[in-house]
Amino acid sequence: MEVIINPTPEAASQLAARKIAALVRANPGSVLGLATGGSPVAVYRELIRMHQQEGLDFSRVTTFNLDEYLGLGPAHPASYFNFMWTNLFQHINVRPERVHLPDGLAENVPASCLAYENAIREAGGIDLQLLGIGSDGHIAFNEPASSLSSRTRIKTLTERTRSDNASFFGEGEEVPHHVITMGVGTIMEAREVVLLGFGKGKADAMAAAIEGPVTQMVPASALQFHERACFLLDEASSSKLQRGEYYRHVFANKPAWQRV
Ligand code: PGA
Repeated sequence: MEVIINPTPEAASQLAARKIAALVRANPGSVLGLATGGSPVAVYRELIRMHQQEGLDFSRVTTFNLDEYLGLGPAHPASYFNFMWTNLFQHINVRPERVHLPDGLAENVPASCLAYENAIREAGGIDLQLLGIGSDGHIAFNEPASSLSSRTRIKTLTERTRSDNASFFGEGEEVPHHVITMGVGTIMEAREVVLLGFGKGKADAMAAAIEGPVTQMVPASALQFHERACFLLDEASSSKLQRGEYYRHVFANKPAWQRV
């Protein structure tokens, strides 16, 4: 596990974008796992800049998003479909047929979840999965007590997550109770994982995920078993780590060939 404490969320986001860009340049047909929420927005902004100013080419890239609200169609302003097109896809040359999100309007939810898992497999699996982290340690919408082997399925949100996400909804609008989300097991199969978490509100979750025991009560802690997981923090989200000085030392002394 790599733990990188960045001076600012902006610096962390640049690093994540450089990792994604390096992957896409090395393998233009990469399969990217993407996330929504506040944390990845600056990463997407930087990828858009790289596309516009440096010609970063997404024409052969395939994407799979982590999750979607059940009951929200693509046209709903708070749907993750809309979030992704607004914040990234419409500004780059990704092909719409290569973009995948769970279907928030699925009538047969189990069949739709199975089809999503199959589509990931048929695409060759996810090369790099971008993740945020909930203040309760969730990844995607795998709330505490999610099985660490779970696959794409329906989940019920906790009140804490509904309230954390309320700002993405209009005044007086209900945050849905149900979502479709990749499982922890699905995420663990990505060949590389980059998790972003910034601000004081993420400090407990980051410390529990990185230094606590592996437990389904902190789904992000499953990443301790991942072969290539990188946690990108800022000063505030790293404030509860016990080994902060060591992670800084490791990063400052990385051999040149390991740098992105
Ligand atoms: P955030 O959400 O990026 O909006 O903080 C992360 C999450 O809940 O997974």
